[in-house]
Amino acid sequence: MSSPLQAMETAARLAGGLLMGRLQHLHELKVEAKGLNDFVTAADREAEEAIAASLEASCPGIPFLAEESAGRKSGASSRFIVDPLDGTTNFIHGYPFFSVSIAYQDAGAIQQGVVFDPSRDEMFSAGRGEGTTLNGTAIRVSGREDLSGSLLVTGFPFKELARLDEYLEGFRRLLKVSAGVRRDGSAALDLAWVAAGRSDGFWEMGLSPWDVAAGGLLVAEAGGQVSDYQGGDDWLEGRSIVAATKGLHTAMRRAVTGTG
Ligand code: IPD
Ligand code: CA
Ligand code: CA
Repeated sequence: MSSPLQAMETAARLAGGLLMGRLQHLHELKVEAKGLNDFVTAADREAEEAIAASLEASCPGIPFLAEESAGRKSGASSRFIVDPLDGTTNFIHGYPFFSVSIAYQDAGAIQQGVVFDPSRDEMFSAGRGEGTTLNGTAIRVSGREDLSGSLLVTGFPFKELARLDEYLEGFRRLLKVSAGVRRDGSAALDLAWVAAGRSDGFWEMGLSPWDVAAGGLLVAEAGGQVSDYQGGDDWLEGRSIVAATKGLHTAMRRAVTGTG
């Protein structure tokens, strides 16, 4: 049996290779809608199957919570949490910002996580208490302490348009005080880029555990701060996340929620 981190890196690379192969033949890809602006393709399913088979071979018997497999919605406290393709809308358009996200949860907390960006061959990995690496080299959050001059990243509530006005209020507040706000389209990779100091903070509502499980650990282990919108620890299941440098986190969270 391999260590979960090694096993997750191997599985993520395998899935990333399959996605890059599919990307060469996008015109053949059948796209299905799961809900409003929520798509799935054979590439998502194929990547998830490959991850499941690879993890089962190296770490047998550990259950899964995986986005595309109804049969793998494990609520066990020790499990892998898998998003085989985070950024499906980008992928469908050939917009090269998407990732594979795999985390290992045990004893109620995310212990290890990887986010792999196959377009840039970048593997972001973290182990609890062990820091975050990018292709094996340690990375840290930017350390920025002031919102002025900051580069922030967000995700729009495109599946929950009823919450658009609430979202836009926070967006407006942060747009006014930062140097810029980006919407890149893969929450897992957005978080990995905060961990690498390429952006200073990220916020989004309505996300699922597989979008944030690995990325949240990457930011925390790179010296950043991660919380839900209320400032609590429920960013995994609570469907809201603010992840930023320690110096920006409180101001950002207050701007997002309109408090303080
Ligand atoms: C989506 C991406 C996107 C975020 C969405 C997620 P998917 O994941 O992370 O950036 O805004 O909320 O659902 O559907 O491409 O795996
Ligand atoms: Ca996702
Ligand atoms: Ca997905």
